[in-house]
Amino acid sequence: MKKRIAVLTGAGVSAESGLGTYRDNGGLWDSYDPMEVASIEGWYRDRNKVLQFYNMQRAHLRDAKPNEAHRAIAELEKDYIVDVITQNVDNLHERAGSTHVVHLHGEATKVRPENTYNDEDGFSEKAVFDVGYGEVNLGDKAPNGVQLRPHIVFFGEAVPKMEQAIDLVSQADIVLIVGTSLSVYPAAGLYRFASPDAPIYIIDPAEVPLYDSRIVHIRKVATEGMKDFAKML
Ligand code: OAD
Repeated sequence: MKKRIAVLTGAGVSAESGLGTYRDNGGLWDSYDPMEVASIEGWYRDRNKVLQFYNMQRAHLRDAKPNEAHRAIAELEKDYIVDVITQNVDNLHERAGSTHVVHLHGEATKVRPENTYNDEDGFSEKAVFDVGYGEVNLGDKAPNGVQLRPHIVFFGEAVPKMEQAIDLVSQADIVLIVGTSLSVYPAAGLYRFASPDAPIYIIDPAEVPLYDSRIVHIRKVATEGMKDFAKML
C-alpha cells in the first residue's frame, strides 16, 4: 500500500515563481495593511479597496508559472498518496499537476456572493464560481443579485477546511512543510496533529519557530530543498 504524505505549504513555495511572500522583507504586508485589504472588517469598511487588491493578485497569478518545487510535490504522487494543504490562494499546485489540493485560505481565482457565509457550513461551495484571472468590481453581482466578494478566508473569519486538513495530517505517514512562517493560526498549528510516528520535514531558508525533536529542517529555498527531501525519502 502506498504511504501518505501531507504537504503543508505557504507563500514560500511560490516565491520562486515570482509571487511575493507576505512577511519577508519587502513582502506584501510591507506595502499593504492586511487589516485593510484582507480582513472582514476591511471588507465592510471599503469593499472597493479589497476588490482591487485581489484584482491585482489575479493579474500577478496570470503571469506566474509553477516552479520546480510545485512540480516536485506533484511528482510525489507517483509513489505516494499526496494531500497538499496550502495556505496559498494561488493555483500553482494545481497547474503543476497536484490532484488533491485543499486551500485553507480560499482561492484568488474564485468569488462568491458576499452573503453566503454562515457559521454552520462556512461558505456554501455551490455559490462559489471561477472568474479565472478577470477583474471583479464594485457592482458586479452574483445571479442572486448580491455583490461578489473574493473567495478568500479573511482575517477575522473561521477556516471552514480546518477539520478536513486535521484529518489529512493525522492520517499522514510523513509530513512535509514548505515555505510558511507558521504565524497564522489555526493553519500554523496543523503539524501538531501529525501521528507521533510520522517524521516532519520543513523546507524554509529562514529559521523556523518549531520545537519538536522529530523535525528535520532543510534550510534551503523550496526548489533546492525539494531535491534534498526526495533523496531523504
Ligand atoms: P509568510 O510570508 O508569512 O512566510 C513565508 C515563508 O516562506 C517564510 O518562512 C520565508 O522564510 C519562506 N520563504 C521565502 N522564500 C522562500 C523560498 N524561495 N522557498 C521556501 N521558503 C521561502 O507566508 P505564509 O506563512 O504563507 O493569508 O502566510 C500565511 C498566511 O498569511 C497567508 O495564507 C495569507 C497571509 O496573510 C491570507 O491572506 C488569508
